[in-house]
Amino acid sequence: MPVLQQRSYIDFSVEALPTMPAPRRVLMTTPAHFEVVYVINPHMEGHIGTVDRSRAQGQWQDLKSAYERIGIRPAVIEGSPGQPDMVFCANQTLPFTTGGKNGVFLSRMEAPQRRDEVTHYARFFSSIGYTTVPLPDATAGSFEGMGDAIWHPGRALLWGGYGYRTDAGVYPFIAERLGVPVVLLELTDSDFYHLDTCFSVLDERSVLIYPGAFTQAGVELIHALFERVIEAPDDESRTLFACNAHCPDGRHVLIQRGCRVTNERLREAGYEPIELDTDEFLKSGGSVFCMKQMYW
Ligand code: ARG
Repeated sequence: MPVLQQRSYIDFSVEALPTMPAPRRVLMTTPAHFEVVYVINPHMEGHIGTVDRSRAQGQWQDLKSAYERIGIRPAVIEGSPGQPDMVFCANQTLPFTTGGKNGVFLSRMEAPQRRDEVTHYARFFSSIGYTTVPLPDATAGSFEGMGDAIWHPGRALLWGGYGYRTDAGVYPFIAERLGVPVVLLELTDSDFYHLDTCFSVLDERSVLIYPGAFTQAGVELIHALFERVIEAPDDESRTLFACNAHCPDGRHVLIQRGCRVTNERLREAGYEPIELDTDEFLKSGGSVFCMKQMYW
């Protein structure tokens, strides 16, 4: 299966691709040991030692309750001491479903400080019967799971971000192993170091993006495969992580509080924003999408 990097190589329409059920389950990891203790993205600068743990715990609980209110009861893993970023559970795996079987690709974290997080998630997914697939030794480079690799809602098509945390060279393996095309999006602004900081899928036809985080070729690819592209403004994207929103059901959009323009645009398009405070987690460069993993 191909890895596509240019609009001119897209010789299919999304509707012609095989369907793939959207994941409906949510996993979250407790923030008991969440802290900013090192700087591995620009948002963390100036925040070492400043996390208010009890506020963080409250914000995490509110996010969990928001999922519950829309009918999704998250599974929960306990955060581990010494792993201050483990709460960002989108990054250690990429779940998939193929031929009625579920599995996860295990990440190879770019930051050495985060490498030990992966085993906790491998254990969780094995315990619920998922196959765990490490990247082969022959495939060089790092990979940060659903931080960078995001499924197109309802279709067997993967969007693959690269440039900061994930190497483009890992995607041919994933494309081959699953038999799905991967559309590559190069990230060009270090404030948007994961694809999930600038690209939030809403439904099969719609996506919310911050266009300034992509190359021209990337923006063209997004427009080629989504009918409706909603843009978030620079300030809301950069400081409030507007595009790290999560739409688990094609209707509700869980999003950091205060993304006024983005929310207006979402409402106009028929979505229902649910505003949440994640500012303790923004200190570490993460918000809603990073704090959960979707699986089948
Ligand atoms: N401090 C974490 C890191 O830099 C934040 C991860 C946020 N996760 C995400 N999916 N964007 O790795």
